[in-house]
Amino acid sequence: MDIGTTPQKLSRLCQALNNARVSSSRLSRHHISSSWLNNKPTFLERCSNFCDFRPYLGGKRPSLSNSLRLKPLLTGGSRKVKRKLIWRKAPHTEAKHKILDYYLKAWIPKLGTWNERILIIDGFAGPGEYADCKPGSPVVILDIVTNHVLRNRIGKIGVFLIEGNNDRANHLEDLLIRRYSPLRAGESIYELNEGKTVFAVIKGKFSATLEEMLDITQTHGVSLPPCFAFIDPFGPSGIPMELISGLMKCTKAEILINFPVDSVNRFLGTPAYENTLDALYGCKNWRKLRMMKGVERRRRLRELYISQLKANAGAEYTLHFTMRNARNRELYYLIFATKHWHGLDIMKQAMWKIAPDGSFQFSDYTHSPEQPWLFPLEPDWEELAGLIWKHFRGQEAVPPGEIERWTVIETIYASNHVRRALTLLEEKGKLCKYEAAYSGRGWIKLAPYKKKGAFPNGKVVVDFSAD
Ligand SMILES: C[S@@+](CC[C@H](N)C(=O)[O-])C[C@H]1O[C@@H](n2cnc3c(N)ncnc32)[C@H](O)[C@@H]1O
Repeated sequence: MDIGTTPQKLSRLCQALNNARVSSSRLSRHHISSSWLNNKPTFLERCSNFCDFRPYLGGKRPSLSNSLRLKPLLTGGSRKVKRKLIWRKAPHTEAKHKILDYYLKAWIPKLGTWNERILIIDGFAGPGEYADCKPGSPVVILDIVTNHVLRNRIGKIGVFLIEGNNDRANHLEDLLIRRYSPLRAGESIYELNEGKTVFAVIKGKFSATLEEMLDITQTHGVSLPPCFAFIDPFGPSGIPMELISGLMKCTKAEILINFPVDSVNRFLGTPAYENTLDALYGCKNWRKLRMMKGVERRRRLRELYISQLKANAGAEYTLHFTMRNARNRELYYLIFATKHWHGLDIMKQAMWKIAPDGSFQFSDYTHSPEQPWLFPLEPDWEELAGLIWKHFRGQEAVPPGEIERWTVIETIYASNHVRRALTLLEEKGKLCKYEAAYSGRGWIKLAPYKKKGAFPNGKVVVDFSAD
């Protein structure tokens, strides 16, 4: 690991994230801006000024020419190097990236239009591509960030790409320089969208980098911009609960973690892994699960992790999605944690797109791109309609937004499923709708609202007392 580069790069990235002007004018996609404005000191500027990184500056960042030297290995080198640097993309990885893609497409404008700066951390970035040239997570993220249809209306976006393996980090940086040309090699912190997007490949361990960031924020009592962290390790090492909690506590952070249940389960009885699992869980209670077996043990391993996220990190809402390999064996759970139900809703919608039957799982074993389902899968509208009716029955003036909020928090369904379920109830005569006004003490029913199948938020209330 090139430890000298991490704090230096973090500091410079922080400055870049702060200094550039947020302009609403039309932006060219890959333009390098040199006209940074000196705003009054903001949090990240102060962070980088506060910190004395000199002790770390001894290390030298590998030059681009070093990264380029990897090229022959990739095109004609030995199989050993090939396998080590990049690997084949499994269908479940493709599914994971689609979830990331759907989620970020909605999360970025949701937060980016209301906040001057947002931050995306890819904590285990990988080499940026797979053996078949398919994109890795950093490319998925940067493509969405730079090409978002609403990019002009969104503020600054910082993307930290952390990779612990030097060869992969160099490969990633080289690949991004080529992909987002005309980036200048050797810049170390790169700008796109006229400086509104800044990114850096940080060559270092996820935990050390995050610790550095949290140290800065804790020492100086300041907070990070709203943040999404994608934490995608190979195994249970290097993702201590303490740091993940620290991140969620110090900002509006949402996290998507690859919880490697297969390896956690395998190492549960291995003494050499005790410290790793203690750090992963942030407690020693996982030892009690050694007695259990099979599906129930994996479920309890997951539930313990989720309860630790809630207790330590203040995660109000969590969601998990199971990934299975070609033998249909559970490989890992994608666990999402957030403090806000809107974030939960965005992630739910993304996961429903990958598992349209509502199973919240994907298996390479059953995945068959050549043979799509004969009948398109869809949510069980009757079930959702029944759940809504049972919960709100008797209430006279419920705003549709409240029905959505309840649905997202209390059921497996998302807000975009609610209208269809309400329409079903409407057709069965189980509800009426009224135009509505807000009185200060609550919603008041006005005249009946005639338009079938429409439930505009803020305009109507739903009456479940008719039946
Ligand atoms: C599962 S791969 C990441 C794949 C990538 N997120 C994607 O979706 O394309 C895990 C990566 O983490 C890197 N890694 C391993 N330990 C690390 C650590 N402690 N900190 C940061 N990266 C690490 C590995 O070199 C590997 O490239």
